[in-house]
Amino acid sequence: MIKIDISQILKFIGKDDIKALEPEIQESILKLENGNGAGNDFIGWMNLASKTDAGLIDAIEDTAKILRENCEVVVVAGIGGSYLGSRAVIEALSNSLAQLVQDKNNPQILFAGHNISEDYLYELTEYLKGKRFGVINISKSGTTTETALAFRLLKKQCEDQRGKADARKVIVAITDAKRGAARVCADKEGYRSFIIPDNVGGRFSVLTPVGLLPIAVAGFNIRELIKGAAEMEARTTSKVAFADNPAAVYAASRNALYRSGKKIEILVNFQPKLHYLSEWWKQLYGESEGKDGKGIFPASVDFSTDLHSMGQWIQEGERTIFETVISVDKVQHKVLVPSDDENLDGLNFLAGKRVDQVNKMAELGTQLAHVDGGVPNIRITVPELSEYWIGQLIYMFEKGCGISGYVLGVNPFNQPGVEAYKKNMFALLNKPGYEEESKKILSRINK
Ligand code: PA5
Repeated sequence: MIKIDISQILKFIGKDDIKALEPEIQESILKLENGNGAGNDFIGWMNLASKTDAGLIDAIEDTAKILRENCEVVVVAGIGGSYLGSRAVIEALSNSLAQLVQDKNNPQILFAGHNISEDYLYELTEYLKGKRFGVINISKSGTTTETALAFRLLKKQCEDQRGKADARKVIVAITDAKRGAARVCADKEGYRSFIIPDNVGGRFSVLTPVGLLPIAVAGFNIRELIKGAAEMEARTTSKVAFADNPAAVYAASRNALYRSGKKIEILVNFQPKLHYLSEWWKQLYGESEGKDGKGIFPASVDFSTDLHSMGQWIQEGERTIFETVISVDKVQHKVLVPSDDENLDGLNFLAGKRVDQVNKMAELGTQLAHVDGGVPNIRITVPELSEYWIGQLIYMFEKGCGISGYVLGVNPFNQPGVEAYKKNMFALLNKPGYEEESKKILSRINK
């Protein structure tokens, strides 16, 4: 079972503070279940796992097979919710050195369309020269500049290298059913395509084709991922007692801490494979809660690496933070510390121990030090990094996010603030339709 341990926040807030939140938590779960809360047209993610369409999973696996058979590299073009979920799962399950290790059984998965860096696109397109690559173009709106720009380059390169007919086999679109340039392009070019459901927002879309197709192409078992998520769905309903519902306990704990003045939550891992899970989590909570002048700021660190850079701040900086640690019980491999006759490095006290034992003591030692230093600590233990448990963890965080947003008093399913920079960028680039904005912005910057 995924376990959540909140004993190390009880030095900072009382059990009563959490108990007092139980009615609000239950009310929020019911709002999600009954679909009568803010943003209720975007809660399709709630039952994606339990109500999976078997035909859709077959189609995703069939398409994945075609890409796997015809490509040595598959580039996933997408940004935000259109790439972070798949990247989080793929990196959590892959060899840590996947970018370097040649894996004969699986295509290499690369990402694009999540930045506008000319160097990144140059280096990517150079790397792809002469390679049999395919592209999964993911955009719900179908008009996101970062993704559209990368896709324009990748589409041309793929067609130039493979010919238009062959490129058509290995370019897949995941987008809206009807709207947006990505849909128009997919239909006109005759690409295989999948639909992003209207009622699922980007950051909640990992269990739709947005996440599932890249994960399947990478060679992972999407049925197990869905099974894990479905089990967590059952563990987090309004019928489950508060103490047995990890999403409810998590949402209550972080809201109680927020109300006590802890404004920043740091998601901590001790496994570098979880780096992108934290990136996904940051978007999930940041975009869902940061609005109306409210919201816990979601940050993340990779330990023990970042103990040597951020450790000082966390130990002794402003006491407005709390940590949520993802602890992985069982690692995939075994490495023993060898004994050394000369013991020049003084490490013989570790000889015969597993490296993971050392890591686990670093984890425990850090928890004790940070709690002593005034940092409340929530601990989420995951049995191991497999499709099934990652599926559970993802759903737990999604449900915790929906509940938390309602307890905070915001609509957790919109993101009005994301548009602000786009308007300015389009005006500065003279995009048709932005003439008035262009005039305003030019007079502002020329002052
Ligand atoms: O969660 C969100 O809505 C955003 O992060 C979007 O996923 C992101 O901006 C990409 O949008 P789109 O899928 O429309 O290209």
